[in-house]
Amino acid sequence: MRVFVAGSTGVLGRRLVSQFADRGHEVVGLTRDAAGDEAVAARGGEPVRGDLFDADSLALAAEGADTVIHAATAIPSDPQAGEAAWEKNDRVRREGTRALTTAAASVGASQYLQQSIVWVAANDRGDPFDESSPPRPTRITQSAVDAEQISMAASENAPFSTAILRCGVFYAPDAAHTRQFAERLLRRRLPAIGRGPLGRGDVVIAPIHADDAASAFVAAAESEIEGIWHVVDDESVSTRAFLRTFADYLDAPKPLSIPAWVARATVGSAAVSQFTTSMRTSNEPFRAATDWQPTYPTHHEGLRQVVDQWRRDGTLDALRAGSVDPSPTES
Ligand SMILES: NC(=O)c1ccc[n+]([C@@H]2O[C@H](COP(=O)([O-])OP(=O)(O)OC[C@H]3O[C@@H](n4cnc5c(N)ncnc54)[C@H](OP(=O)(O)O)[C@@H]3O)[C@@H](O)[C@H]2O)c1
Repeated sequence: MRVFVAGSTGVLGRRLVSQFADRGHEVVGLTRDAAGDEAVAARGGEPVRGDLFDADSLALAAEGADTVIHAATAIPSDPQAGEAAWEKNDRVRREGTRALTTAAASVGASQYLQQSIVWVAANDRGDPFDESSPPRPTRITQSAVDAEQISMAASENAPFSTAILRCGVFYAPDAAHTRQFAERLLRRRLPAIGRGPLGRGDVVIAPIHADDAASAFVAAAESEIEGIWHVVDDESVSTRAFLRTFADYLDAPKPLSIPAWVARATVGSAAVSQFTTSMRTSNEPFRAATDWQPTYPTHHEGLRQVVDQWRRDGTLDALRAGSVDPSPTES
């Protein structure tokens, strides 16, 4: 199949280009500069220039695509990012989805895949939830829910079906947040968030290694599924256990532990909401519908891979020295 990827140079998109190409599919990656062209070509894709905010460029770039994927994001990597940065991300989600679904319809694509996030349906009580649970958006996640609805509605009058892959919290050697966590853990400046809302036990997150998030998109495309799916590790894990394991692999000091309300008050609720809201959900429906098998079924294997890669390529030393670029373009 011919696959068109918007966001082809990001953490998820880079892997989509490599993995679809490795499976023998033709991949076209939307790019915005020469560095993007190089990154896509190096992974076996064909770079085509365009912008999510330029609808005409998208229709041209997506020509001939069977599958169109929205993997673009403008999530700020600064935890203290202000409203303007989040508004840009909202635009990528809302306007970007409108423009990309319009392009998918105009080129006659048969499938549209949208990246979303599992915590749009997380509840304050920390109860388990699944694909049928009603979304409970926050200021930051409202635009992700809107993008889901825009892409679902678009498929009603278009030749394509829509599948929304709600991914867990990404971690990867080249993900900015993963590097920031490591840098802070090494300095014992990242506390593990302990008690959950209303003191209801540890906050639980649903992580996913970015390699496995990408392979889920390949599985979804090849299985031609539609609807909403949760793509997470085999096990949810408390933020406390996740950070302790990470610190252990990094040979960093054991992180301190603080209650969720203190974290919110200190860093701001937007930035920490994904670490103060429990995400008790499962990948079982997605596994049953596809032949997807995560390479790193739990955070143990996944974080081990992250740290091993950093040891091999010198990133770990650079993190210890505080001299690493948090947003690398190579994986
Ligand atoms: N589920 C999750 O936990 C989740 C989901 C998404 C992101 N994140 C995190 O957020 C951080 C940033 O993600 P990332 O590294 O993928 O972001 P990134 O490196 O900033 O990549 C975002 C992608 O979107 C593209 N893009 C942005 N605006 C665009 C526009 N107007 N038109 C076309 N393309 C556009 C970028 O293209 P250019 O290269 O041309 O800028 C790039 O390909 C990472 O740490 C990641 O782990 C987490």
